[in-house]
Amino acid sequence: MAERPSSTLGSKWPNRRQSLRAFAPMATILVTGAAGFIGSHTVDRLLADGHRVVGVDNFRTGHRRNLANALACGAFSLREADVAGPATVGDLAEEFRPEAIVHLAALVGVQESIADPASSFRLNVEATHAVAEAARRHRVPRVVFASSAAVYGDAADLPLRESSPVGRPASPYAAAKLASEALLQAYAAAYGLGVRCLRYFNVFGPRQDPGSPYSGVISIFIRRLREGKPVTIFGDGTQTRDFIFVGDVAGANCLAATLPGSSSVTVNICTGRSTSLLQLLEAFARKGVAVPPPRFASERPGDLRHSVGDPDLARAELGFFSRATLEDGLAKLL
Ligand code: UD1
Repeated sequence: MAERPSSTLGSKWPNRRQSLRAFAPMATILVTGAAGFIGSHTVDRLLADGHRVVGVDNFRTGHRRNLANALACGAFSLREADVAGPATVGDLAEEFRPEAIVHLAALVGVQESIADPASSFRLNVEATHAVAEAARRHRVPRVVFASSAAVYGDAADLPLRESSPVGRPASPYAAAKLASEALLQAYAAAYGLGVRCLRYFNVFGPRQDPGSPYSGVISIFIRRLREGKPVTIFGDGTQTRDFIFVGDVAGANCLAATLPGSSSVTVNICTGRSTSLLQLLEAFARKGVAVPPPRFASERPGDLRHSVGDPDLARAELGFFSRATLEDGLAKLL
């Protein structure tokens, strides 16, 4: 049996949508990018909630080891295939008739998209189009899309709200996420597809691969500090991010996938709390980690200065709110 991860939602938060969810029948959910960092946590959570899960991954950045629990569970099937490739998602949708597709497969990361914009377009925009087409042709009622706070660019007014202006993307990655949202919204308008675009802020937690230079800052910092080496800060360290624990993000994905009907929503998945990189290092020190003085290097192109989201709409629309603080999440990681 799969390990049963703890629930993101407290029983103290009853609302109309949650009570609907509580009575929703168990569903079949197709998860793209299932072996990745967020994908594997989402698979675990869906299985723990009693759903049947079909995962697809090309193992470009995902790892089979992330699915160790899931693979031991009879309710999970895994296919190795490229989501952007011809017919992959369509064939799976035809075979398994899912109630929702949670589309997480992507080229993740601003810096990698700057290094390789063509792959960013293929793995982000073309893959999303393949998912939208599969949903249309095989009548899948809803798609949950892993969008990003990157769509807001360097906005002047914080916190970032879903009504904040978008349309000045600072990287190919941000442009691809924005284009994917637009594409899915067109399918919602033209074909009645239920589209839930979740704009993740900075996700961290176990299974985030620290080996890649394009990985998230927390996983890179932990690896360096564990090796007793100083971290490198790009810029002066006063840039801020809204760090959200991966278990909370998995919970948001499950809520969005199982929210009945075919309503479409676009919501921030964030904590509403802002932390600078210098404060992050202080948090490590409070946890007893030795923190040598950091090295400073020049700011990276495409980097945002400040990013913090307003979590209220996700609470109203999905009944979602983050439970883990940064300190809780770091404790789990360390
Ligand atoms: C991150 C996500 C992206 C998501 C976005 C949402 C990753 C890899 N990227 O981008 O998928 O859509 O949030 O807003 O998780 N930094 C250092 N030293 C390092 C590494 C990073 O100083 O060794 C700095 C960066 O320059 C940046 C900040 O830390 O200023 C955060 O960087 P990063 O973790 O790569 O995330 P984002 O670019 O915010």
